[in-house]
Amino acid sequence: MLVNLNSILPNARKKGYAVGAFNTSNLEITQAIIKAAETLKSPVIIATSEKAIKYAGIENISRMIISMAERARVPVALHLDHGKSFELCRECIRHGYTSVMIDASHLSFIDNVRLTRKVVRYARKFKVTVEAEIGRLAGIEDDLKVKKTEAIYTDPKEARHFAEDSGCDALAIAIGTSHGAYKFKGTPMLRIDILKEIAKKITIPLVLHGASGVKIKWINRVNKYGGTLAHAKGIPDRLIREAVANGIAKINTDTDLRIGFTAGIREYLAKNPSVFDPRKILTSAHDLIVEVVKDRIRVFGAENRVC
Ligand code: G3H
Ligand code: 13P
Ligand code: ZN
Repeated sequence: MLVNLNSILPNARKKGYAVGAFNTSNLEITQAIIKAAETLKSPVIIATSEKAIKYAGIENISRMIISMAERARVPVALHLDHGKSFELCRECIRHGYTSVMIDASHLSFIDNVRLTRKVVRYARKFKVTVEAEIGRLAGIEDDLKVKKTEAIYTDPKEARHFAEDSGCDALAIAIGTSHGAYKFKGTPMLRIDILKEIAKKITIPLVLHGASGVKIKWINRVNKYGGTLAHAKGIPDRLIREAVANGIAKINTDTDLRIGFTAGIREYLAKNPSVFDPRKILTSAHDLIVEVVKDRIRVFGAENRVC
């Protein structure tokens, strides 16, 4: 069934698990996300970035996901990831998205509040939920590249004011994660101390972006069949579990699905050099993504949360 974030996240925050938000841009990835969520009886959020929307076309991607979500045996939200403008949020709402993220984290505090409030006011009329962000993650999202030195941890006091003033339904915070496959040079670490402070001050669900695990078993599979993903490093499961135990209720994952997709196709083509049927090739990607998404759902503690 198709739902918004308020039907799934407050319960996750209360009970101490996180709902996975997984990025898609095509049929096979979407099918794999829903299949994994149904198998493990977990609510799920399907997210599309602006680039994914441009790639697939908003009419195609929204209709496809909504149709699949409505028939799913678990709650599924359709969410805009990192929306940079009011206009894009409005466009997604017009196309049936049940949730949008307005990411004005690159603006000043006051401009971030203003833009978020404008989106919240509009979204409310359609029962659409709004995620906002305060603080800045390093890494690449859409075409915006943020260097590690420009990343800013979320200030707990600012976060509380922001949540109160903007009226957002969920808040993404920066505690040391980053987008992409190269998150740490040395030992992975997150500022759980900052998260604890924020969680004390804010009751709405908190969101962790840039949370892919980039597990060595998937990386090795890419590299074994011709890939060159050297020195990739993600967030270890123990840090994800600690973040969830301390108030994170929504976790975004894209990179892990991309790695799974690539590993599946590389391996399949290497082992089946005479095959040229796209359905067979893409099924290998689908199957591996199901495994990846199931792994993430288990780490988030979201298995068996739907009766
Ligand atoms: O947060 C970033 C996501 O991984 C989206 O990436 O803009 O390349 O679709 P994309
Ligand atoms: P990863 O790059 O760690 O998968 O993060 C994805 C994300 O935050 C999407 O919004
Ligand atoms: Zn993100």
